[in-house]
Amino acid sequence: MRSIYRPMLLTAALLAFSSTTFAGSIMQAPFGKTSDGTAVDLYTLDNGRGVKATIMTYGGIVTSLLVPGRDGRAADVVLGHDKLDDYLKGHPYFGAIVGRYGNRIAKGQFSLDGRTYTLAKNNDQNHLHGGLKGFDKVVWKVESAADTDRGPQLKLSYTSQDGEEGYPGNLKVTVAYTLRTDNALRIDYLATTDKATPVNLTNHSYFNLQGHGEGDILDHEITIAAERFTPVDKTLIPTGELRSVAGTPFDFRKSTRIGERIDADDEQIRFGRGYDHNFVLAEKPRDVTPAATVYEPQSGRVMEVQTTEPGVQFYCGNFLDGSNVGKGEKVYKHRYGFCLETQHFPDSPNQPSFPTTILKPGQELKSTTVYRFSLKK
Ligand code: BGC
Repeated sequence: MRSIYRPMLLTAALLAFSSTTFAGSIMQAPFGKTSDGTAVDLYTLDNGRGVKATIMTYGGIVTSLLVPGRDGRAADVVLGHDKLDDYLKGHPYFGAIVGRYGNRIAKGQFSLDGRTYTLAKNNDQNHLHGGLKGFDKVVWKVESAADTDRGPQLKLSYTSQDGEEGYPGNLKVTVAYTLRTDNALRIDYLATTDKATPVNLTNHSYFNLQGHGEGDILDHEITIAAERFTPVDKTLIPTGELRSVAGTPFDFRKSTRIGERIDADDEQIRFGRGYDHNFVLAEKPRDVTPAATVYEPQSGRVMEVQTTEPGVQFYCGNFLDGSNVGKGEKVYKHRYGFCLETQHFPDSPNQPSFPTTILKPGQELKSTTVYRFSLKK
């Protein structure tokens, strides 16, 4: 039997530990302080079956994810930093919870119920990933950290104030990370508001299934369950069209090497400097459904992404340029990581034909994404 511990009853760093084989555990460790003196902690979830995920309270960032390869050796498959200071200095959203609105909003503006809202233009002329101080740069509160019958779970919460980063309404957000016994990291998002507001929550982990810093991701093979994608203008704002992937470098309905067409002579590829596009998985949110599978031939690692979200941004680290020195002094060069950011479509507040991202008072936003790891022999 797996025992369930309530962390509030414990003062020791070891928050949850069970004596049975394959039991999960959660360890807490201090990770420093932000510039205003707020303490930041790391929580390591161990599912007792070889997978370990470390998450910090600053940005809800997944700082490390250890997954065994074919050779039995565990590698850390996400990009990140060793020290809090490196995260505080600025980084391209490594592992972070992104919000209030993940992805872009054109010209940092949208209208809602007859009012125009102005947001920060922090990506040339557009708004990106929630603004100057998005959910990736706040310290999340730990609601609970416990081993549950689904695996060790860390539940974080954050209340974004009315007017924060220009968005309307007090938005209460809970994000639960569960490291399941079937080697899946499950993320459950829940949000409520007291005024209508756009919300688009995602996780921005950069994966390299060979291990972070171990080369580029071009030899990874990917399948994306999307018939269409949302083409963009040169500032990466969707044109509104849902374009068929057939006959384009965006057709991943069959497993394809990421590098195969990443530099194709194609306007959309040029705009993204490779893949940096939203793929259409569904017309609207639905039950948890397979979205993408990535296989890395050398290590044998496979990552399956499942989600309730209608879209996924496939981004290939095209803007990494070696200026980020990560964990263990590894230099993260061009295309050393890829992201599969499950989400609603970019710029939805300005695109009436896209599935709505407006959350209203009395409604609950519920969204789930699962990153499940396995091995191909
Ligand atoms: C965007 C990229 C951006 C990156 C930030 C991705 O979600 O699509 O365009 O450069 O985040 O690191």
